[in-house]
Amino acid sequence: MLISEKLAKAMSDQVGRELGAANQYTAVAAYFDTESLTELASFFYRQSDEERMHAMKFVHYIADAGGRLVIPAVPAPQSAIDSAEAAARLSLDWELEVTKQINALMDLAIQEKDHIAHGFLEWFVNEQLEEVNTMNELLAVIRRAGKDGLLLVEQYLIRRGEPHAGGEAPA
Ligand SMILES: [Fe+2]
Ligand SMILES: [Fe+2]
Repeated sequence: MLISEKLAKAMSDQVGRELGAANQYTAVAAYFDTESLTELASFFYRQSDEERMHAMKFVHYIADAGGRLVIPAVPAPQSAIDSAEAAARLSLDWELEVTKQINALMDLAIQEKDHIAHGFLEWFVNEQLEEVNTMNELLAVIRRAGKDGLLLVEQYLIRRGEPHAGGEAPA
């Protein structure tokens, strides 16, 4: 097989974390949905779909490279979300954490001189720049708008549009 057992295990663990992120963003989206903040809700529902797509990218890669996929138990998401700022903070922290996880996977690929895995992981490295940046910006806008200004955040999301639905470059 093309992939080492160690890397297949590390990528399998990442599948679990991406699925955990999908659940976390669904929980955040549902919070905004109940608050009738529909743009924030759809923003996070889309993020959730993206995280599942990330998980599937790893699944397909492990299979293509002949590795064994072992999906770990996925911890329950944080559902005690009580403000937009807390939700955005949680999401930013998560993306910073994921950046470290992706870097660690890349370190392992380099250590194993696995150039195929290296090429595959590059997409995720670049994606994290966008993910962290997006959450950073959202948090800043939410803070600036303040508790009573969440409709301004909704306006911001409408103007911002959907720059990277699915995380794939447009065909
Ligand atoms: Fe992800
Ligand atoms: Fe993400």
